[in-house]
Formats: sequence, structure tokens, C-alpha cells
Amino acid sequence: MKATAKAHTNIALIKYWGKRDEKLFLPMNNSLSITLDQFYTTTSVEFCTCLKKDIFLLNGNIMSEEETNKMSRFLDLIREMSGSALYGVVDSINKVPTAAGFASSASGFAALAAASTKALGMEISDDILSQIARQGSGSACRSIHGGYVEWEKGEQLDGSDSFGKQILTENEWDLSILSVLVEPNEKKVLSREGMKRTVDTSPFYTGWLETVDDDLKVAKQAIHDRDFEILGNVLESNALKMHATTLGANPPFMYWTSATVAVMQKVQELRDDGILAYYTIDAGPNVKVLCQPKDEDTVREKLTTLSVVKEIYLCHPGPGISYLPNTNTKSCC
Ligand code: DP6
Repeated sequence: MKATAKAHTNIALIKYWGKRDEKLFLPMNNSLSITLDQFYTTTSVEFCTCLKKDIFLLNGNIMSEEETNKMSRFLDLIREMSGSALYGVVDSINKVPTAAGFASSASGFAALAAASTKALGMEISDDILSQIARQGSGSACRSIHGGYVEWEKGEQLDGSDSFGKQILTENEWDLSILSVLVEPNEKKVLSREGMKRTVDTSPFYTGWLETVDDDLKVAKQAIHDRDFEILGNVLESNALKMHATTLGANPPFMYWTSATVAVMQKVQELRDDGILAYYTIDAGPNVKVLCQPKDEDTVREKLTTLSVVKEIYLCHPGPGISYLPNTNTKSCC
């Protein structure tokens, strides 16, 4: 009744921005990501008859009732699917700078989905696992796979055709992704709230929907052709379009700080000097800069010259879900 799984975070090149069904986490558009090798969550889940409720530990700390309830609602889904009524102890270690736009919810829910279904002995395909992870946090459905992953939005009302599919493994095209930390504090408008407000109120959201499929097509072709310049241009403009929708929301909001813009400008300068580097930004102020491995030292050096840069984490495409031996073999009772 116990299992341990490891899942890596992912960074979207074509963003998931907006839901058509909030309960089932069904997106308005397809998205495309790279799974990252350096940021991951390892989660052990043990279900046991001795428990009267779920318990949630994150990095060794017992989580608040609110956080535990969120996790419990996700376990309810798995209990319903498996027919089990048992409560569980969830022990998670996050190797991700939490809530600074580095997408810890993606690796968190992917690892939780994998460990809890395995602990209950459920034999399920990766497609189903991805659909389950999606219902914890949309972007988690892409973290089931390694490398380059497309989340197909699907058409079915029940979400049965909305899950992540690998389009290239992590070994088929190496790129460098520099995660540039400028602001370690929690973000103010969470992605869930931000995308809802944008869908509901921003007049620019229709412009997003009108062009995102074309961006995706260009990005997929560039990945197929290993054409970094074309991929870089489209991923950067797609991120800018996503952020532009937030300015039209009511009330308006913005994820960038002056430090975010300084990094963006530095990347532009690198390109002016002939180095192919491109940025993307999620629902927070930190920036991910993509370049080719041959340029990663130069890009890192240039970005380090900015006083606003607190830390740079270098990543490459990483693997999908893996299952680990249970470290603590002692049962919870
Ligand atoms: C900007 O997956 O965190 O990072 O489904 O509501 O949990 P929920 O949202 P989440 O949103 C991610 C938004 C994004 C873009 C992306 O990762 O595609």
C-alpha cells in the first residue's frame, strides 16, 4: 500500500492559458513544454487502515489544513477510481523553488498521481495517469513524460482525450534552459486565478485564442526540424502574448517586475550580439532563458552581470515519471 514516485517540472514553450472546464481542468488551447532535469518532486504515499484522515508532509513539515484539504480532494478522485476508502500519508520533497513561477504544482501533482495510483495497485496507462495528474493542476499532465510534450486539449466533455503526449524524448534534442531567479517571494496572482480573470474579462483573450494554434504549429515544426531560431522566436512571442492578456483583465494585473524586464532586455542584447537566446515567463516574475548548449556559458555570464539576478539554475531536457524504492519501509502504524 506504499509507493514512491519522482516527477520533474516542465516549462511551457506554448502556454496553457485559460480553461474551458474548471472542475476537470480542461484547457482552451493545446500547449507544449519541455520537462526539466534539475527541478523535481519525490513523493511517497502510504494508504493505511489505521489513518482517520489524510496527512500531508512537504519537505518534512506537516502542512496546514487548507493545503492538506487540497491534496485530499485530489486523493478522493483516486479513491473513487480505485474503489478504496483508505486514507493516506503523503510525504513530498520538492527540489523546486516553490511558488516563484517555477511550476512546482506540475511536478507535485504528477508525482502524487503516480505514487498514489501505484500504492493502490492501479494498473493504468500513461495517458490515464496524465488525465489524473491534470485534475490536480493542468500543467502536471505534461510532467508524466520526459523531453518535449504536447498537451492536447481534447474535445470530449469528460476530458478523456485531454492529456500529455511526448513528441520528442529528452535525448533527441538538447537545449539549455536557464531559470533566472529575480524574486524569491510568493506570487500575488496565482496562475489559476490569473487565467480565469483573463478568460472572463480581458478583451485581448480572443486575440490569444486566434493565434495560439498557429504558434503551436510553428513550434512543433521547428522541434521536428531542430530549428532553434524559429522555435525561439515563436516561444518568446507566445509568452509575450500570454502576458499581454493580463493587462486587459479587470482588474488588470502584471506578473513582471522591473527586474523581469531587465532580464528580457539583456536577452535581446545577447541576440543583438549574435547569440541565439530567447525568454519565456510563467505566472510570476522569474524568467527562463533558452539557448543552445554551446552558448550556455556565455548566456549565463551575461545574465550574471545584472544586479537584479539572484540565482541562475541551469537545466536541460529531463525525464518523465519514475518509480523509486520506498526509503522508509516502516509502515505508518
Ligand atoms: C502560465 O497548471 O499552474 O505556467 O491548472 O489552474 O493548476 P492550474 O494552472 P497551472 O497553470 C500554468 C500556467 C502557465 C503556463 C503553462 O505552464 O502552460
